[in-house]
Order: sequence, then C-alpha cells, then structure tokens
Amino acid sequence: MSASPLLEFIAREHPAFVHIPLGLVAVLPLAMLASFHPRHGKILAGTSFFLAVIGWLGSTIALFSGLIWGRQINLISPSGFLPVVANEKQVLQKILQIHILAATAGFLIGGVCVFMLWRVWRRDFGPGSAGQEHRHAGRRFWERGVGAPALLVGFLWLGCWGFSGKLGGIMVFGNEETNKAAAEVEKAKRNDAEAELPIRALDYASLEPAETAPARSKAHGDRWRRVWVSASGIDAYKAGKPLPPGAYAVMSTFTDEKGKPSTEPGPLYMKETKGDGTTAFAFYWGRVPANLQKDFGNQDSVYWRSPDAKLATCLGCHEKGGSATK
Ligand code: HEC
Repeated sequence: MSASPLLEFIAREHPAFVHIPLGLVAVLPLAMLASFHPRHGKILAGTSFFLAVIGWLGSTIALFSGLIWGRQINLISPSGFLPVVANEKQVLQKILQIHILAATAGFLIGGVCVFMLWRVWRRDFGPGSAGQEHRHAGRRFWERGVGAPALLVGFLWLGCWGFSGKLGGIMVFGNEETNKAAAEVEKAKRNDAEAELPIRALDYASLEPAETAPARSKAHGDRWRRVWVSASGIDAYKAGKPLPPGAYAVMSTFTDEKGKPSTEPGPLYMKETKGDGTTAFAFYWGRVPANLQKDFGNQDSVYWRSPDAKLATCLGCHEKGGSATK
C-alpha cells in the first residue's frame, strides 16, 4: 500500500501533533483550579470548557496519526490497533502497547471531562442561566467554578496523557533499555552475515566442484544440478561420508529444457554441518518464475533457512546430516 503524501505527513508528524492536545490538557487543570476563584469562576469555567473541547478534538488527529505511523513502520499490523509482543526482547512493542493504552484511556477520560464541563457551561451560559449569576459566590467551595469532581477528572486526563507522552518520548529518543535492545538486534544482525542473502551459497563457484558436469536430480524438482563442496568437506563427500563440522555443500541448479539443462538458473540448495554437528539447510531462489510462484507462497523471491518449517522436506530425505540415500 502506498500512502498518499498527506497521510504520510500526518503519520510522520505524530510526535509534533501530540503536543497541541497535550499542551491544552496541561493548562486545563490550571484554568479549572482558577475557576474556584469566588469572582471569576464563571468565565474561567467557560475557558476550561473551551480548552477541553479543543484539546479533546485535537487529540483525535494525534490518535489517528499515531495509528497510521505505527502501521507504516510495521510496528502495528495493517489491520491491527495494537502491536503484538512476540517475545521479551521486543521492548519497543511493549512500550508502544502501554503508550497506546494510556493514550486511549486519556481520550475516554477526556470525553467524560468534556461532558462534565459542558454541563457546567450550560448551567452558567445556557438557556435559563440568567438568574444563576449571584448564586456562584454562595456555593460550597467544591461546588464552585467547574466543581471538584470535574477537576479530579481533569487531573486524571492529564495523568494518562503525561504518562503516554513520556513513553512516546522514550520511543522517539530512546532510553537505556530501548537503546540496549536496538544495539543487541544490530549486533545479532552483524554476526549473522547471511541474514538477508545466503552469501556463501551464492559464492558456490569458489568451492570444490564435486561433479564435472550437470546431472539430473529427481529429488530436487527434477532440475539439473551441480554440487559444490567446501574444501574441508570434499574428501568426506567423495567418500560418501557425512560432512565434518563446519563443512557445507551447495547444489546449483538449472531448469530442464527438453531433457537438457537450460541456461535458466533454478534455486540454490545448501546443506551445512554446523560446529555442533547438527545439519542446517538453506533454499534460495532470487527470481521465482511467474508460473511457479503459486508453489512458493506467491512470492517472486524466496530465501528459507533452518529452522524454517518450509525446509522440513529436506530433513525428510537428508536424515542425520548423512548423505541422502540414493
Ligand atoms: C526426495 C528426497 C530429497 C529432498 C526432499 C531433498 N533432497 Fe537434497 N538430496 C537428495 C539426494 C538423493 C541427494 C544426492 C544428489 C541427488 O540425487 O541429486 C541430495 C543432495 C543434496 C545436496 C548436495 C549435497 C549432498 O548431500 O549430496 C544438497 C546441498 C541438498 N540435497 C540440499 C537439499 C535441500 C536444501 C533440500 C530442501 C529444500 C533438499 N535437499 C531436499 C534428496 C533429497
């Protein structure tokens, strides 16, 4: 989905938008407090109502932009409203979840506050309010101005958004925990050079060729194959023994054309004996032809690596890391 430039702007500027409602709701309790003044109560209660309405309506843009932003940067699924926390390490997702819940709670409490202030405003300025003027001074303290219950709700509203805003700040600028989590992800990626491309498999031609000419392989989609093995494993491979730890074999393939290997490259298959003796597989096809994409989850490019469940069929034939029985 490519978003419109306007939507893009609304999403990206979320950290800026939120300051408008947040600022209004931060001064709201001050205006509400001031409305307890014996003489200026009415005008300050009206001001409170005005601030609350603008803050509350403004917050709908902030909530909307936050949702769009979260979806654009894939923290929230395209049809979801909350991020899914898959594991403990997803600090950002965890913080975002609480950020959204606090913002939503603030919005609901804000709605109640606006309603309470509207009632005060109607009492003071609405139809039939003319005779109420002098009553104000005679009210008990907690009934003056906007009234104590509304003031309490106003503070709650500010509390929710203040907390949500604090978490938002952490997500934008980072804190110790998020920075540490980001650094760990970064490091894990650097240590895993093949996270995005099977670099060693793609460099198969630098390995020892185990076969001099392409041979047909029924086991691998009836393609034409050539097997290449790392120097540390070529002797074991030729002797039909399991590859030693650290050694790997790559099978480059060509599609068949009337019983002959065509020049159209097929997928790369890789099998590796890891340092701990376990076997790992990889399957890489950078460009799946259109007519075969339905067999590959409708992808135009696939890269699967152990322990991907899609490689279970490899294990079925290649048991225990030994050479598959022919
Ligand atoms: C139907 C059984 C079968 C399946 C499924 C299978 N293989 Fe193989 N594989 C074989 C056989 C048999 C050989 C020996 C060469 C040949 O016959 O093509 C082999 C050879 C290989 C080789 C060359 C090194 C060696 O051990 O001989 C690699 C690499 C390889 N397979 C990877 C894979 C990967 C990755 C998958 C899963 C995507 C896979 N294979 C699925 C049966 C299978």
